[in-house]
Amino acid sequence: MAKDTLSITDNRTGKTYEVPVAEGTIKATDLRNIKTGDDDFGLMTYDPAFMNTAACRSAITFIDGDKGILRYRGYPIEQIADQATFLEVCYLLAEGELPNQAQLDKWTNDIRYHTYVHTNIIKFLEGFRYDAHPMGMLVGAVAAMSTFYPDAKHIEDPANRYVQRVRLIAKLPTIAAFIFRHLRGLPYEFPRNDLDYIGNYVNMMFSIGGQHAPNKVLQRALEILLILHADHEQNCSTSAVRSVGSSHVDPYSAVSAGVAALYGPLHGGANEAVLTMLDEIGTRQNIPAFIESVKKGEGRLMGFGHRVYKSYDPRAKLIKKVAYDVFAQTGMNPKLEIALELEKIALEDEYFIKRKLYPNVDFYSGLIYQAMGYPTDYFTVLFAIGRLPGWLAQWEEMLQDKDQKIARPRQIYTGPATRNFLPIGKR
Ligand code: CMC
Repeated sequence: MAKDTLSITDNRTGKTYEVPVAEGTIKATDLRNIKTGDDDFGLMTYDPAFMNTAACRSAITFIDGDKGILRYRGYPIEQIADQATFLEVCYLLAEGELPNQAQLDKWTNDIRYHTYVHTNIIKFLEGFRYDAHPMGMLVGAVAAMSTFYPDAKHIEDPANRYVQRVRLIAKLPTIAAFIFRHLRGLPYEFPRNDLDYIGNYVNMMFSIGGQHAPNKVLQRALEILLILHADHEQNCSTSAVRSVGSSHVDPYSAVSAGVAALYGPLHGGANEAVLTMLDEIGTRQNIPAFIESVKKGEGRLMGFGHRVYKSYDPRAKLIKKVAYDVFAQTGMNPKLEIALELEKIALEDEYFIKRKLYPNVDFYSGLIYQAMGYPTDYFTVLFAIGRLPGWLAQWEEMLQDKDQKIARPRQIYTGPATRNFLPIGKR
C-alpha cells in the first residue's frame, strides 16, 4: 500500500530506514539517524547554493518556474500589476490579505507620517565621495538607520516590528532620493506628504527649485516596476535578510544585508549590467559576435537566465509591455532595438534553448529606468525600493515561524588533519 515515506537502504551497513515525506520533502535532520556507528555524526546532504533545499515554509509568494507563474499571497502577478498600488502590495505581502479602505487609509497615513529622515542621515551621506556607487551608499545608510532607532532591537514585540517596517518603507525612498541628489550635487528636496508614495519619491528625485511637472503615466510605470520586484520568495537577498535576521539583530541591519546581496551583478545588479552590456555591443551588427562570445563562455548574456524560471519570466513579459507605454512618453530608447534583436536571436539559438535561458526581470527594466532619467548605476536602488516589502514580510514570517532558529549551515571539512604548531624558525 502507498505510504508517505521514503525507504533508504544504507549499503555501508545494510540497514534500512523509513523517513517521512511531507509536502514533497524529507527533513534533512531525519537523515542524521543514518549512521555507520556510534561515533558517526550521521548522514548530511551536500547542497551548495541551496539548489534543492527548502530552508523555510512560506505563505507569501508562489512561483512555478516551469510554467512561468508568479503569485503574491495567491493573487496572480498580472492582476496585481494591473490593479494594485505599491502600498497595497506592501500591505498584502506583510499582512496576508488585501487591505479594505479603512485599513489602507491607516496604512497610507502611517507611511506618510514617517517619510522624513533624521538630518544626521544627510551628514552621513555627505561623507561619501562624489563618485560613490549608490548601492554602496544605500547599504551603509540602511545599516546606519539602526543607530537612529535603537528601539528596533526589540524584535520580540509585534507593535515595535510594525513601527520599524513602516519606518523602512516610508524612509527608503527619501534616502534613495537623497543619495541621487548628493551624487548630482543638487540640494535635497524634502518629502511632500500631500503627494502619494510614488509621486513624492519622483518629486524628491527630480524637482528643481520646488518645480516638477508630474507625469502620471511614468509614475504608474514606475509603480508597476516596483510591484513586479516586490517579492520573489527565497532569492539571494531575501535569504540574506532571513539569515542575518535569524540572529535576532534589528531589521535595519538585516535589510542592509539584503541590499548588499542585491548589489551583486548576478542578482539585482544585473539591471545595471544589462545596460553596460548593451553599450558595449553598441550596434546590431555586433550582436552575432557577442552571442558567439557568450556561447564560448567568455561572458554572460546579462538579464537572461534564472535559477527558478525555466520559461519566460512573467515579470519580464509585463515589463516589456510597460516599456512601450514609457517610450510613448519619453521617445524610444535607442538601445531597445539591440535588446529586442538580442532576445530574438537568443530565443532561437540552441545554446539558450537547451539551457532554458529566457529574459528575466532585469532585461528590459534598465531601458525603462534610463528613459525615465535614472542613471545606470542607480537602477539597483530602484530594485531595492521595490524589494523592501518582500524582505520585511519574509523577516516577519521568519520571526513568527516556530521551526526557525539561527541560520547555521553545516560543512564538509576538507582541511588538514590535526598537526602541531611550528615555531616561526621551523616553517
Ligand atoms: N548567459 C549565458 N549562459 C548562461 C546564462 C547567461 N545569462 N545564465 C546561465 N547560463 C548557462 C551557464 O553557463 C550554464 O551552462 P553550462 O551548463 O554549460 O555550464 C547553464 O546556463 C546553467 O547556469 P547556472 O549558472 O548553473 O545557473 P544558475 O541557476 O546558477 O544561475 C543566474 C542563475 C541568474 C545567476 C544566471 O542565469 C546568470 O548569471 N544570469 C545573468 C545575470 C542575471 O541576469 N541575473 C538576474 C537574475 S533575475 C533577477 C534577480 O535575481 O535579481
